[in-house]
Amino acid sequence: MLLDNCPYTVLVTGGAGYIGSHTVLALLEAGHEVVVLDNLCNASRESLRRVERLTERTLTFIEGDIRDRGLLDQLFREHAVGAVVHFAGLKAVGESVQQPLAYYEQQRRRHPGALPGHAGGRSHAAGLQLLGHGVW
Ligand SMILES: NC(=O)c1ccc[n+]([C@@H]2O[C@H](COP(=O)([O-])OP(=O)(O)OC[C@H]3O[C@@H](n4cnc5c(N)ncnc54)[C@H](O)[C@@H]3O)[C@@H](O)[C@H]2O)c1
Repeated sequence: MLLDNCPYTVLVTGGAGYIGSHTVLALLEAGHEVVVLDNLCNASRESLRRVERLTERTLTFIEGDIRDRGLLDQLFREHAVGAVVHFAGLKAVGESVQQPLAYYEQQRRRHPGALPGHAGGRSHAAGLQLLGHGVW
């Protein structure tokens, strides 16, 4: 993994969700600091409490939406994020057929390229890495 041998602060969007919470667990076990941004639309804060108990580590949880530019600006100002793993999004097939515009809006705005942009260049100077995102 790219982060081996070098502790980072990693931002995990959608980190309270199914894949995100397992990723957070692995990152904490590997010694990294983790900031989770999740609006809890399809997850509970409890999953992250369990991750903290299992790893005996603490993480920073921010409840909010990845489409909130002001929140992202503040997040990147307050945390020295060195890498981003991007899982926040909607994924229910049936719902996406019933609400195509909501899904379009969510997925278009969640494009991972937008995240480093919110750091206003500071992330590039700091060598921000986008390690992966949950779009299959
Ligand atoms: N689970 C799978 O088998 C699987 C397979 C293929 C692809 N994926 C993709 O991986 C990603 C994560 O999947 P998952 O199974 O962990 O889903 P999940 O629903 O469990 O996790 C997604 C998380 O993102 C959060 N979220 C959604 N919209 C948000 C927003 N606008 N701002 C902040 N947080 C938001 C939800 O609250 C949730 O915690 C998705 O993009 C999904 O399409 C998952």
